[in-house]
Amino acid sequence: MSKSEKKVVSYAIIGFGKIGQALAKAFARNGIEVSVATTRDPESFASDAAAIGPEIIPSTLAEAVKADVIFLAVRFESHTDVAKALPTWQGKIIVDVTNAYGVPPEKMGGLPSAWFVAQAFTGGKLVKGFNHLGAAILDQDPAVHGGRRVVFLTSDDDGAAAEIGALAENLGFAPVKLGGLSEGGLLVQAHGNTWGKLIFQDLVKFD
Ligand SMILES: NC(=O)c1ccc[n+]([C@@H]2O[C@H](COP(=O)([O-])OP(=O)(O)OC[C@H]3O[C@@H](n4cnc5c(N)ncnc54)[C@H](OP(=O)(O)O)[C@@H]3O)[C@@H](O)[C@H]2O)c1
Repeated sequence: MSKSEKKVVSYAIIGFGKIGQALAKAFARNGIEVSVATTRDPESFASDAAAIGPEIIPSTLAEAVKADVIFLAVRFESHTDVAKALPTWQGKIIVDVTNAYGVPPEKMGGLPSAWFVAQAFTGGKLVKGFNHLGAAILDQDPAVHGGRRVVFLTSDDDGAAAEIGALAENLGFAPVKLGGLSEGGLLVQAHGNTWGKLIFQDLVKFD
């Protein structure tokens, strides 16, 4: 690849339930292609994908994980199953959209839930984000009252956070970076029946 050629980044969303579909709508709204996968045959959710837009490509899990950037939109408890899809996630960014609501706090040992996801996706770069709003809000056009809806991003990898920040902007959101997992991770996560302080804070940024 010559220096003038820009690498085309490919995207996938694993999990096509409430939050996966809300994310897919943001991609479609901005004309960005994204593969979507679940445990099921892609034909079984092809009509839901088509209803969102032609940018949404129903895929098998095996196909979808070939993408460069993978949004994890499954229940927290399912993240280890998805992680088994590849022996290494080297070179990929995993965007952890899960909330570990209902997971007993003693299982987390005071660590951010994203830390467990980062451990499971060996070799991948983890960014926690897009998880603090209910699907019915994330679903909507983030251009609100002349501003842009905020999404929080947290990562131990500054390069990956910058890349997902740029994507969030392309999707119409205003990304706010909260630093590393041990700082920001605890503010935008759930465990047991408690929610981090920034969860559900529907904020709009004016430039
Ligand atoms: N709902 C919200 O408002 C909201 C807001 C913020 C964050 N979140 C978080 O986002 C995640 C998803 O929530 P949701 O409400 O969208 O759940 P959901 O509606 O139950 O959707 C979960 C999706 O994951 C798929 N899935 C399950 N196991 C899988 C596996 N091993 N491999 C691939 N796909 C798998 C399911 O498809 P099949 O079972 O058919 O394969 C389904 O499409 C959760 O961690 C949740 O805490 C949710």
